[in-house]
Amino acid sequence: METKAAGPGAFARFDLSRVPSPSFVVDEVAVRRNLAVLKDVGDRSGAKVLLALKAFSMWALADLVGDYLDGVCASGLWEARLAREHYTGELTTYSPAYRREDMAEILRLSDTVIFNSPAQLARFKDEIATAREQGEVFEIGLRLNPEQSESEVEKYDPCQKGSRLGFPVSQLRPEDLEGVDGLHIHVLCEQDFEPLRRIWQGLEPKLGDALAELKWLNLGGGHHITRADYQREDLIALIAQISERHGLEVYLEPGEAIALDAGILVGEILDTFENSGPVAITDISATCHMPDVIEAPYRPAMLNEALEGVTVRLGGPSCLAGDVIGDYVFAGPPAPGARIAFLDQAHYSMVKTNTFNGVPLPAIALWNSETDALRLVRQFDYSDFRDRLS
Ligand SMILES: Cc1ncc(COP(=O)(O)O)c(C=O)c1O
Repeated sequence: METKAAGPGAFARFDLSRVPSPSFVVDEVAVRRNLAVLKDVGDRSGAKVLLALKAFSMWALADLVGDYLDGVCASGLWEARLAREHYTGELTTYSPAYRREDMAEILRLSDTVIFNSPAQLARFKDEIATAREQGEVFEIGLRLNPEQSESEVEKYDPCQKGSRLGFPVSQLRPEDLEGVDGLHIHVLCEQDFEPLRRIWQGLEPKLGDALAELKWLNLGGGHHITRADYQREDLIALIAQISERHGLEVYLEPGEAIALDAGILVGEILDTFENSGPVAITDISATCHMPDVIEAPYRPAMLNEALEGVTVRLGGPSCLAGDVIGDYVFAGPPAPGARIAFLDQAHYSMVKTNTFNGVPLPAIALWNSETDALRLVRQFDYSDFRDRLS
C-alpha cells in the first residue's frame, strides 16, 4: 500500500527534542481541522457522524470530538465502556460476534447494537427482551455484506471471498429484518467517493422495499473524507438523496479521517553499521509501534527526509528480522542520538502498540501547533509491560 500522508504540515517546525523518545505527538489543531470538515459534511448532508474508536481513541481529546461529532462507535464491550466513560453523544456498537457474558452491558451502554448475522441476533433475543423490560432503550442493526469488492487490498476487503464480516446480501430474507431498525455496511478502506457510489448503486436495488421499513443506514468507515482531494460535495449529495428517497437517517463512522495527518511518531537512532549498505537501529519498532507497516505493508513517510544523500535501512530494536521500517534518505549518515519522526501515525498505530520483546511503549504528547503548547499526556514504564504478563 502507499502512504496517504499529505506531508508534515505544522510538524515541519516541531522540535523533536521536546518530547521523550519514542513518543506519539498529536497536533490538536490538525484533529480539530479534520473534525470541522466532518461536521460540515454532517451538517450539510444531514448525516450523523460517529468517530470509530478502533482507529483513534486518544480520550484526552474526547471533549474536542464531542464538540464536532454526533458520537462514537465501538467494536465491543471495552470500547463501549471507554465511550461512556469519556465521550459524549450517541454510541453504536458493532462486533463480528458477541460473547453472551458481555451482552447485557453492551445493550445497557449502547444506543444501537449492530449484529453480524440474523442468527446471532436471534440467539440474543432473550437478552434483548430482558434489557428492554428493565427500561434500556436501544436500536438494533444488522451488518450486511454487499458482496461487491471495492477495496484495493484483499486483506482490507470485507467483501473478499469467504468474508466473515457482514451477512451476505444474497442470503437476506424479509424475515431476517424483523426487529431490525437499520442496516450497516462497511466495505471501504482509505477510499474516495466513487467506490461508495458504486456500492450503493449495486446494493440499493437488491434491498428494494425493505429500505422503507428501516430507520437508518450506516455507511461505515473507510471514507477518506478529510483528505484534500476527497469528493465531499458528491458524498453530501448521495447522503441527501438516500435520506430523501428512503426516509432514512444516514450514519458515517470514519476513524482514520479524524486523525489523518494529525500525529507523528518521534524516535531516536540507537546504533548504525554497514551491511550491504548503511543500517540503523531505532527505538521505534515497526512490529511494536507501527504494526501496519508490516501488516499492510506500507512505508511510512519520514519527516524531513532528504532528497539525496545516504540511504539508510531503519529498523526496530526487537528480535524480529522483519522489524524493518524501510529505507530512508539522509543528507549524511545519521549519528546515534539523532531524532527522527514518521508522519501520519495518530490513527491505527497508537491503538495497536504492543510490548513484544519488552520494547517500551511510546509516550503520548499533545501539541497545539497554533499556541505551541505541549503537554505530555502519558508515559509508560516497566510496570505496563510486566502487568500484562502475569
Ligand atoms: C465497522 C467499521 N466501522 C468503521 C471503521 C473505521 O474505518 P476507517 O478508520 O478506515 O475510517 C472500521 C474500520 O475497520 C470498521 O470496521
